[in-house]
Amino acid sequence: MKNLAILGSTGSIGTQTIDVAREHRENFNIIGLSTYRNIDLLEAQILEFNPKDVCVMLEDKANILKKRLVGSKTQIYTGIEGLIKIATLEGTDLLVNSLVGTIGIQPTIAAINKGIDIGLANKETLVSAGSLVMDLAKEKKVKILPIDSEHSAIFQCIRGNENNKIANILLTASGGPFRGKKKRDLINITPREAINHPNWSMGEKISVDSATLMNKGLELIEAKWLFDMDIDKIKILIHPQSIVHSAVEYEDGSIIAQLGEKDMKVPIAYALNYPNRKKNTFSKLDLVSIGTLTFYKPDIETFQCLRLAYEAIKMGGTMAAVLNGANEKAVELFIKKEIGFLDIPQIIQKVMDKHKNVLNPSLEEILYIDTWAKEIAVEIA
Ligand SMILES: NC(=O)c1ccc[n+]([C@@H]2O[C@H](COP(=O)([O-])OP(=O)(O)OC[C@H]3O[C@@H](n4cnc5c(N)ncnc54)[C@H](OP(=O)(O)O)[C@@H]3O)[C@@H](O)[C@H]2O)c1
Repeated sequence: MKNLAILGSTGSIGTQTIDVAREHRENFNIIGLSTYRNIDLLEAQILEFNPKDVCVMLEDKANILKKRLVGSKTQIYTGIEGLIKIATLEGTDLLVNSLVGTIGIQPTIAAINKGIDIGLANKETLVSAGSLVMDLAKEKKVKILPIDSEHSAIFQCIRGNENNKIANILLTASGGPFRGKKKRDLINITPREAINHPNWSMGEKISVDSATLMNKGLELIEAKWLFDMDIDKIKILIHPQSIVHSAVEYEDGSIIAQLGEKDMKVPIAYALNYPNRKKNTFSKLDLVSIGTLTFYKPDIETFQCLRLAYEAIKMGGTMAAVLNGANEKAVELFIKKEIGFLDIPQIIQKVMDKHKNVLNPSLEEILYIDTWAKEIAVEIA
């Protein structure tokens, strides 16, 4: 029996993590959950799983839930302290971090310091603080098990080949809803169009990131830190079918890939059951019905966010945190219809241009710069 805590349990990855735990109920005991404000769903999760502790980020929502749950044994915490409390619960075997945004950094670090293994979906943590997080995980001998489907695929392709040298990582991308479009086609894109992903149903922020291809830029940086790879050896391949979730090319020219249906429950289950694989009822891949798999290079000219991600990680230091913070704010403004789709990369570029890069930053510097980047993005917009 594994004790699980799930941060962001009301989101797209969070609810699918709950589905996986429900599927293998005999193997998992949920002891901690969290939401930003969705107390209705959190209440249902509490009634189903009886976790010892939960966090509701917003205090007013937490107070409403406390009134509803009078007499319950579940303790309700709030704010960042509450998230850290859930991330460091006594007896946790695996923390699933499915928060969205840089709010995920501090709970991740707190869990690592406590020696708790992490199933990491929250990519913004590694983009902004990858060097720091991975060094700390190594020092504390904590496992970071990727949940992002591409990184789970790479992780699986490396397993058993740890002593062989990797020539390249092949990071696949669906290309998003605007694959094949040119800049002139993207001028009047609405949030609704951007969020409507052809292959995956995800949270709003990652859906917009997929439409701008920033998601692939963030994943590039995530892959660099997770697998300690030179950025020039991570090649992005547009693969519209989203069947090959990523691949690893070894020095002998062999490419090992992981294939599967477009279902996040598969990489989630891999992280939850690691090091084992468990039989499940999720949909299975039928290669004959798929027939053809295609791959081509990304269009960096149209999708400028990808170029910016390459630039930021090559500059090193705090530049990726700036890219990430500015992107988070620009996406929020786009969803609120305060800026246009093509303004997103322009704002990020301008914030990066204003930033004086700090090499080897501390956690405090990263958090400060994240806030700075978000404020400057609003000023520029
Ligand atoms: N969705 C996918 O298929 C997918 C695939 C690969 C990687 N990822 C990564 O996984 C992470 C989560 O993505 P998602 O699509 O699951 O996001 P999501 O659906 O928006 O869910 C985010 C979760 O975090 C909570 N949350 C949001 N902002 C918060 C804040 N400031 N403080 C505390 N809690 C907060 C939300 O609570 P509320 O419900 O109250 O808003 C929700 O529980 C992201 O980093 C994303 O890039 C997602």
